[in-house]
Amino acid sequence: MKYTESIEKRRTFGIIAHPDAGKTTLTEKLLLFGGAIQTAGAVKNNKIKKTATSDFMEIEKQRGISVATSVMAFEYSGKQVNILDTPGHKDFAEDTYRTLTAVDSVILVIDCANGVETQTEKLMEVCRMRNTPVIIFVNKMDRDGKDAFTLLDELEDKLDLKVRPLTWPIGMGDYFKGVYNIYDQKINLFQANKTKISKEIVSLSDINSPELDEIIGEKPAAELREDLEMIEGVYDSFDREDYLSGEVAPVFFGSAVNNFGIQELLDTFIRISPSPRGRESDARFINPSDDKFSGFVFKIHANLDPKHRDRIAFLRIVSGRFERNTFYSHIRLNKKFKFPNPTSFMAQDKSVIDEAFPGDVIGLYDTGNFKIGDTLTEGERFMYKGIPSFSPEIFQELENLDPLKSKQLEKGIRQLTDEGVAQMFIQQPGNRKIVGTVGQLQFEVIAHRLEHEYGASCRFVPRNYHKACWITTDNDDKLKQFLNAKTGNIAKDKDDNYVFLAETTFLLQMAEQDYPEITFHKTSDFKLD
Ligand code: G4P
Repeated sequence: MKYTESIEKRRTFGIIAHPDAGKTTLTEKLLLFGGAIQTAGAVKNNKIKKTATSDFMEIEKQRGISVATSVMAFEYSGKQVNILDTPGHKDFAEDTYRTLTAVDSVILVIDCANGVETQTEKLMEVCRMRNTPVIIFVNKMDRDGKDAFTLLDELEDKLDLKVRPLTWPIGMGDYFKGVYNIYDQKINLFQANKTKISKEIVSLSDINSPELDEIIGEKPAAELREDLEMIEGVYDSFDREDYLSGEVAPVFFGSAVNNFGIQELLDTFIRISPSPRGRESDARFINPSDDKFSGFVFKIHANLDPKHRDRIAFLRIVSGRFERNTFYSHIRLNKKFKFPNPTSFMAQDKSVIDEAFPGDVIGLYDTGNFKIGDTLTEGERFMYKGIPSFSPEIFQELENLDPLKSKQLEKGIRQLTDEGVAQMFIQQPGNRKIVGTVGQLQFEVIAHRLEHEYGASCRFVPRNYHKACWITTDNDDKLKQFLNAKTGNIAKDKDDNYVFLAETTFLLQMAEQDYPEITFHKTSDFKLD
């Protein structure tokens, strides 16, 4: 087994949240506590998520920013922490789902007033598919929010997982006094401070000592004692194995904007989070400790400058050691490529690297050879599984407005869908292009990019579909029957798989009932269903 030390020290994770819960703020604060940046405000808050209508310059800018901040790596406490950034805007959720295939664990941020929101549920569904370990950070405790026990119940109910608080809030909003660290038996007293890390930690030998009343006041002290008794009665004690298997999520409380509760979060994360894990391939399970290099592309970014159509493919290394200027096999194309300028991302700086290890994410300059899900290996032929497409939520037909530019349009839409900007379905029979996305904004991005990067002009016509389901069956007769019966609702995806486009959930259920021989899959990765 090679490179054990390099593998063991890496911690690759993502921060996920419903927009506005505080993901950007927490990311920045982790970088601040990790020593990767010196002052708050260094990570751009991508304001685009707050603009109701799209501003294309902002979109372009955001794309630029997110290339730079796609991976933020820093060293902390002997570990190399790799934070994979996910877009703030909900219309780019699909990008986030794919990024989750490249992480080994996640930190989920919840706003204490809003609790579990729609995007939180969707993101957690994706985590559950892979049993990704989750730590929950309940943010904005300096504001009035829901009662902590109510929040924990809501997390368990809506996210279908068990929780275990590791810190506990003392009051909230104007009466927020701090958090009690259940394991270390220490109180971290709250001070609102947005720019500096200031900490006042009090150790308590016994929660029943009158010292507690002196520090936080009699009433809050009595409440805290009561709460802690309840916690011990209701929740099992924390077991790291349960966390690693994705069954139990430890919960922390704090206020990211005030630098509060971050240290506990970061220190515990370093202690309990998993080192790089292996991945399933179509040949076998590949362990990070396998000697030979392999990895997969989970994200592709177009160059900001439309005159240069090169892109950056983000590769997660799964096994072995990646070396600069070494030929590797691109399995889908059955070709060898070498990379003279592989890039790593340390906080906000990009730099060319000579080597990288499992858990690392590197940027590879690409002139159009990569698609999301591509596998690179040292020679062995296998493909990584599990970069699924999920059903889009909005479907529109792409219409060409300039017949003289149909080639450009064709090329452009293929390349943009390779990048994962949207999914394209070709209606069967016929050749209509149905583009599916999770948000309206992407259609504007696509039209804008087709025009500016490919010189093609198009129009999107809304189609009344609600869900795409990938269909499979062993029964060819039934398939034929189904395809005939559902003309108008059948399409093929980029890999030539049949997809059923349903107008409503009811019609989908009817189809499932009427054709029990056919399986309807929620994602393109059938094995994960
Ligand atoms: P996101 O990436 O999850 O979308 O959220 P982001 O960090 O941008 O935070 C959303 C808003 O919530 C921001 O305010 C941010 O300052 C605020 N916020 C984050 N953490 C806390 C916290 O612990 N307490 C309180 N009270 N607010 C918090 P904004 O006004 O929208 O933007 P800004 O002008 O402050 O940047």
